[in-house]
Order: sequence, then structure tokens, then C-alpha cells
Amino acid sequence: MKRLEKKVVMVTGATGGIGLASARLFAAEGARLVLVDLDQDALDRVVAELGGDTLGIAADVANADATATYFDTAVKHFGRIDGVFLNAGIEGAIAPIEDYDLDMYDKVMAVNVRGVFLGLKHAVAHMKQNGAGSIVVTSSLAGLRGSRKLSAYVASKHAVVGLMKAAALECAPAGIRVNTINPAPIATRMIAALEEGYAPGSADVVKQKMEKAVPLRRYGEPREVANLALFLLSDESNYITGNTYPVDGGMSAG
Ligand SMILES: NC(=O)c1ccc[n+]([C@@H]2O[C@H](COP(=O)([O-])OP(=O)(O)OC[C@H]3O[C@@H](n4cnc5c(N)ncnc54)[C@H](O)[C@@H]3O)[C@@H](O)[C@H]2O)c1
Repeated sequence: MKRLEKKVVMVTGATGGIGLASARLFAAEGARLVLVDLDQDALDRVVAELGGDTLGIAADVANADATATYFDTAVKHFGRIDGVFLNAGIEGAIAPIEDYDLDMYDKVMAVNVRGVFLGLKHAVAHMKQNGAGSIVVTSSLAGLRGSRKLSAYVASKHAVVGLMKAAALECAPAGIRVNTINPAPIATRMIAALEEGYAPGSADVVKQKMEKAVPLRRYGEPREVANLALFLLSDESNYITGNTYPVDGGMSAG
């Protein structure tokens, strides 16, 4: 039996690096998918690639009405939601705190924290009707420790660890599990943007430095994060809730 057979799973940030690798893996493991991201054309391409009974819904995860709508659309179509991967996120600016733009701070918190809160709110409401469910939130290694010039991002990724813990305690009696995955650094658009932001024009130098700082001496692949999300969404992890799971090449050991 496939590991997500018969499960309806929602993925946000589904056309990005980690989200797309996850959508592909979850589809291969038998899930029926609801994919959410900002751009409908990009979603349509993924839906066409995956085939099967896949929904692609364009929405801003920070928008309360849009979130209510995509959950309702998903439940109307599939009748239930078994797993939710709240993965959409932005890195924001790279700047010292004293120069960090306030509008950008608000934007990072809106997408990364409000977006996760809204996703939890609707996921829990729907899953309570099933008496079961698994929610996985993409935090970061930056949700477990600090990182220079990324104050809003670090704050947002710590905040979702708090949301996860609160939701895990609250929802355990209803059979709903909630965990975070805490990746770093993974080869996607986001890490390329950070490299360029730390040293404009010298991204390759930053990359070399960052790879050296990883005990396994390389960036992770999106698929390696998807593997962990798959485990946490599947019934293989039925006794696991309320915790943080690094996928970081050993970085959090140091
Ligand atoms: N790449 C890394 O090294 C790394 C490390 C730790 C955590 N993360 C986290 O992993 C998650 C996925 O990031 P990624 O590395 O795949 O980057 P990515 O930029 O490739 O993917 C992010 C996706 O989220 C979508 N998105 C952004 N804002 C949105 C919004 N308001 N509504 C809906 N969708 C929105 C983007 O369109 C994009 O498709 C993020 O939460 C990120 O913070 C990434």
C-alpha cells in the first residue's frame, strides 16, 4: 500500500522548491492533492504534470477570505482533508535590525505567521469532523536559533514553532497531530536569493561558505525535506506530535 493512499493532502507554496518536490512525492505515494500558491498558471502546469484528481487553487495564504475559500473548495471537492502541509513562506529582506524596513517586517509576519495561523485554524476545524489528521508546518533552522540580518524571518519561524506547540496540545484529544519541520539550507530559489542578498554579485562565495558550515558539506535537496514531510503526514508517525524536526545536514548539532 502506498504511504498516503486514500488521503487528501493540501500543500501551500506548492509550486516552489520544497512544495513542488513534496507534491510530486505525495502524488507518487497515492495522495489526492490540493495545491495552493500565488500563481494560477504555475499551479495549472503542476496539476497537468501530476494528473489524477489534483486541485490547484491560487490564493495568498495571508488572506483570511482566500484561505476560507480554498479550504471550502477542497472540502466540497474531496469531502475531507487528512493532511495539510503549511509550507508557503518568504525570506523578506536581508538587513541589520536598525535598517530593517517595517513594511517588509509586516509582510514576512503576514505570510509566514498569519498564513500558518489561518491554515491551522481551517485545517483543525475540518479535521475535527474526521477525528484525525496531520498538520506539518515548514519552520526552519532559523526557527530554532538566530541568524544575522534576517530578524523578521527568524522571528516568524520561531513564532510558528509556538503555534505548532499550542495547536498540538489543543488538538491531540481530537486525534490531530501537529509538527514542524526545520530545514536548512535547501537548494531552492529562496537560498539562491539569500546568497545574492548577503553578497550581491558573489553568491558563489556565500554558497561555498554555507556549504562548509554544514556537517554533511552540501545543501539539502527539496526531495530530502519532502521525505520528512511525507513521514509526518503518513500513519507511520501516528505517535508523533508537538515537536520540531530538523532536516539540516547536521547543522543543529553545532
Ligand atoms: N530553502 C531553504 O533553505 C529553506 C530553509 C528553511 C526553511 N525554508 C522554508 O521552506 C518553505 C518553502 O520554501 P522554498 O525553499 O521551497 O522556497 P520557494 O521560494 O521556492 O517556495 C516558496 C513558495 O511559497 C509561495 N508563496 C510565497 N508567498 C505566498 C503567499 N502569500 N501565498 C501563497 N504562496 C506563497 C511562493 O510563490 C513559492 O512557490 C518556506 O516556508 C521557507 O521559509 C526554506
